[in-house]
Amino acid sequence: MSALARLAEWQLLVVTGKGGVGKTTLTAVLGRLLAGRGKRVLLLEVDPRESLHQVLGTDPSGGEIVQAGPRLFIQNLQPGAVIEEMVRDKVSIAYLARKITESTAFHQFIEGAPGLKETALLGHAYRMLHSGRPKVDLVILDAPATGHGATMLAAPGLLAKAAEGGQLGALAADLAAFLADPSRCGVVLATLAEEMPVQETLELIDLLQARLGIRPALIVANGLYPSVDEATPPGRSTDFLRARHQLNESELARLMEAWDGPLCHLPLLPLERGPTLVAELARLLSEADP
Ligand SMILES: Nc1ncnc2c1ncn2[C@@H]1O[C@H](COP(=O)(O)OP(=O)(O)O)[C@@H](O)[C@H]1O
Ligand SMILES: [Mg+2]
Repeated sequence: MSALARLAEWQLLVVTGKGGVGKTTLTAVLGRLLAGRGKRVLLLEVDPRESLHQVLGTDPSGGEIVQAGPRLFIQNLQPGAVIEEMVRDKVSIAYLARKITESTAFHQFIEGAPGLKETALLGHAYRMLHSGRPKVDLVILDAPATGHGATMLAAPGLLAKAAEGGQLGALAADLAAFLADPSRCGVVLATLAEEMPVQETLELIDLLQARLGIRPALIVANGLYPSVDEATPPGRSTDFLRARHQLNESELARLMEAWDGPLCHLPLLPLERGPTLVAELARLLSEADP
């Protein structure tokens, strides 16, 4: 089965990698592709500086679900708001729920509980698969750059231990089991073929394996420079392009020495952030599907 066909089988895909490597773009590209193949897809963005809507050319989400095309939806998430929603869900008396979420103790708890915010975000993704509003087959989570995917994915397991015996602990344990199920959840790593991003990718592969027993489903090497024709006369821009391309080649070779799983290449396209870039990358990714 091709890598993309495998991704389409899952319920949750977590896209992660170093900041600026194209995670949000790749989230949109995968969303477009899999929605195009008939899946109903929700893209969740955790970054408070919303950009997913610009990438797909829709209205900003501001926390709401926005339709971005046939079978494709986006939502921007704030951890605080998601946790409050969780409390409102559990505490049916509105006055009581408000009392709780407005209390200092509650805010201290949110800040202090290990892995609570990350668990709440993943829990939201899980709930959206079952809420039916809208009906969703697959959630793709554009994971925060700093939290670094692995920390986020490890959070429910940590919280399950810290809050063992309670309702919250049970919820976290369910979520940890869902994330550990390779038939339902997967991780996609985005990287540039440059020294630091490749280094971080290699470390992340090891960390995911060691801490969670997860092997990424796909690595996407994004923003690759084209090769420069031998016959092109030398000049500053030719030399620059040639050097970038050579760097890409040597970093890809270093990546492939340590990684023998599915790997896709995406070129750096001369296009601004937006739906045209997404459509073109989706077409290329579909063609390159390993
Ligand atoms: N393959 C590509 N070709 C051209 N521009 C790209 C490509 N991938 C990403 N970009 C641009 O690079 C910038 C960073 O991408 P983004 O997806 O926001 O990264 P991240 O979410 O990892 O911070 C954006 O302006 C985006 O349009
Ligand atoms: Mg981003």
